[in-house]
Amino acid sequence: MQKNIKANKIAVIGAGNVGATTVYALMAQGIGSEIVLIDINQEKAEGEAMDLMHGSSFVKPVNIYAGGYEDLSDAHLIIITAGAAQKAGETRLDLIKKNTAIFKKIISSITKYNQDAILLVVTNPVDILTYLTWKLSEYPANRVIGSGTVLDTSRFKSLLSKHCGVAANNVHGYIIGEHGDSEVAAWSLTNIAGTNLKNYCPICDAECHNNELENIAENVKNSAYEIIEKKGSTFYAVALAVARISRAILRDENAVLTVSSLIKGFYGIDDISLSLPTIVNSKGIDKVLKLPLNTSEKKDLKKSADQLKSYLAELDI
Ligand code: 2OP
Repeated sequence: MQKNIKANKIAVIGAGNVGATTVYALMAQGIGSEIVLIDINQEKAEGEAMDLMHGSSFVKPVNIYAGGYEDLSDAHLIIITAGAAQKAGETRLDLIKKNTAIFKKIISSITKYNQDAILLVVTNPVDILTYLTWKLSEYPANRVIGSGTVLDTSRFKSLLSKHCGVAANNVHGYIIGEHGDSEVAAWSLTNIAGTNLKNYCPICDAECHNNELENIAENVKNSAYEIIEKKGSTFYAVALAVARISRAILRDENAVLTVSSLIKGFYGIDDISLSLPTIVNSKGIDKVLKLPLNTSEKKDLKKSADQLKSYLAELDI
């Protein structure tokens, strides 16, 4: 780590629902001791920082304040949540053009002050924006991470947990590929109590036929649309996902998380950012894991990558 970087300083760019709730999740879990919140609307950032800071007597010591891009210079982790949000009826990829323009400005402001941090992209479409951030920032690929399908993986565990009557943190499985419509449930890697789901099914509390499992994967994929339809936006679970990734980085955990990162030479996939089970630590991406997917998962993953590539091809980068 460079000398001027503070190991426990986090910057959050964007003080909307996702940004502010992320800071709340970070402070509630004692992740980071200094958190700067930056927004184009300085007053909003100040209001959120004040509101959060007033709870500081209930959590581990933390300094939360609203700041400017110059405050990025000594941050270890820079989380980007700024950008236009997904509206009802819009796909994540509808946002590409809007958020690409916003990111061009944000990334040049970041690199002006800091070239040594880890960048964690949360804004959608997260895989496209993670790739764009890597390209524009010229940071090494291991220090450019997208929140990717960490949230979808949690949704998957949560639904399987309910289905089988097992605590969500005792359900192991991964949603991989795009954070969005082409994501893939890696059923062949899914297990409970060290037992592959296919073998666990006979002892599961509920019916475990293929169509029930397929429904679970479909519900995971459509969760964001459903929540946005009902309450306008999603932010609690994604904030917890971002806090989980942040903890893995700040505590040098070597945690296996389905973050999005630059993929090179995996299952015939090249030069695109998407999610695969990945070891995350203080260096950012330590290693993307090449796990034994079955043939149809590999095919679907390749389709997901091709989908993302076709969107990237429309961008002038
Ligand atoms: C979510 O999946 C919209 O990406 C956001 O909740």
